Amino acid sequence: MTAAASLLRLGVNIDHVATVRNARGESYPDPMRAAEVALAAGADGITAHLREDRRHISDADIDALAVICRRRGRPLNFECAVTPEMEAIALAHLPHAACLVPERREEVTTEGGLDVVRGHNKIAPVVGRLAAAGIRVSCFIDADPAQVAAAKSVGAQVVELHTGAYCEAVRHRDPRAPELLEGLKAAAREAAALGLEVHAGHGIDYETVKPVAAIPELMELNIGHFLIGEAIFIGLGPAIQRMRTLMDEARSVLAA
Ligand code: PXP
Repeated sequence: MTAAASLLRLGVNIDHVATVRNARGESYPDPMRAAEVALAAGADGITAHLREDRRHISDADIDALAVICRRRGRPLNFECAVTPEMEAIALAHLPHAACLVPERREEVTTEGGLDVVRGHNKIAPVVGRLAAAGIRVSCFIDADPAQVAAAKSVGAQVVELHTGAYCEAVRHRDPRAPELLEGLKAAAREAAALGLEVHAGHGIDYETVKPVAAIPELMELNIGHFLIGEAIFIGLGPAIQRMRTLMDEARSVLAA
């Protein structure tokens, strides 16, 4: 792997291992086992979203993931809504990173970015308290210059750009896909120019990972649902290894 390739980290989101487990109210498949497999297969860290309705990841999962990640010396990226409950859980566990996401109970998944412009006064103090506790705070935002600027102004160290609209457009052969990719590139440039670390995630699959990974400012991708689906056919370790290879291929073109 080239030096440039190694700069793009992969966080594997294991939420949907818990979705399958919870469909039967069983103890399997175990998200902790998935985390161990993911780290062994080349994930740089583990991402998990504790939703307010606990539809997949549970409080006990977060307790166990915090232990695993600490033991393995790998980052846990705790995705959460901007609520007092989630802030308290983050402060109790002190994960490496917290990614602040919008949450609506009726949504199927995180359907858009956090509105940091409108939520500035609510979000800024939470970012301040999490950052003061040593947590790297990220805002999950749409590729919108106003949101990038607002993330900087609330004190976030990182922005994670929502790639869902672009990935969906590619899958549905929507002609707006190139324009959406250009929007992600512009937002990444803008964020980096403001001194923010830039991440991306949501909806990424084997087709969309390369154009996204080729955005030079990106330092981390967070990928979940597609990998867990692919694991049904080829196993979680090989699914992650393939994603890692595609990321590295995209990065080696950049380095060339
Ligand atoms: N990043 C964030 C902030 C997310 O909320 C999610 C979904 O939980 C992901 C990345 C991963 O998205 P996906 O599961 O579609 O790969």
